[in-house]
Amino acid sequence: MSAQTNELPYKSVRFSETVITELMIPSYSNFGGKIHGGVLLSLMDKVAYVCAAKHAGNYCVTASIDTVDFLQPVEVGELVSLMASVNYVGNTSLVVGIRVISEDIKTNSVKHTNTSYFTMVAKDEDNNLVQVPGLILENREDVRRFLESRRRKELKQNYRKESDAIRMPNDFEQCKLMLGGERCIVSE
Ligand SMILES: CC(C)(COP(=O)(O)OP(=O)(O)OC[C@H]1O[C@@H](n2cnc3c(N)ncnc32)[C@H](O)[C@@H]1OP(=O)(O)O)[C@@H](O)C(=O)NCCC(=O)NCCS
Repeated sequence: MSAQTNELPYKSVRFSETVITELMIPSYSNFGGKIHGGVLLSLMDKVAYVCAAKHAGNYCVTASIDTVDFLQPVEVGELVSLMASVNYVGNTSLVVGIRVISEDIKTNSVKHTNTSYFTMVAKDEDNNLVQVPGLILENREDVRRFLESRRRKELKQNYRKESDAIRMPNDFEQCKLMLGGERCIVSE
């Protein structure tokens, strides 16, 4: 799909910085009493959308999410804050970096639960891709994040190429031999 292009005024990272804070209530928990990973993912998608749409000045869709590793469990009663900022802009896409922290409001102790990167793509009302404004990098942190994001994008493109090239041999016997050492049995 080709994008409609027009030179837009650049916007600073600060312009679209977004924070969402939400109290973790019992209905968000799993059978183990911790907060569902899906609840956090949904909040991350929301904050990514707000940040991206503010920068783009348009509706945005989530194109991809880079690794979400939950470093520590989140408990019911904690206050989760998701801090989002635009790390990188391409042509019609941009990358939103999200840092998630969770606070025990009784003790004020804060833990970092995860950091992730959402690639969002801007669309107009007719569902056509649209160019996003360029980014004004106002400090060293903005520059570092932009460069790291560009590097992550390159690594991802290389990974995609390698992953597309993964083809197992057609020879079933050979495939079975390749399973040696794995914790599985072939019952066929
Ligand atoms: C994401 C989507 C807009 C890409 O559309 P497309 O026609 O393939 O667009 P293109 O290949 O021209 O890519 C457009 C931009 O998106 C980026 N992009 C597309 N797929 C991507 C991916 N998987 N990861 C990262 N970036 C991606 C491209 O790099 C390009 O960026 P640029 O313009 O800044 O250079 C389209 O696949 C889509 O609408 N997907 C559904 C999104 C959605 O509904 N999300 C909600 C989850 S249900």
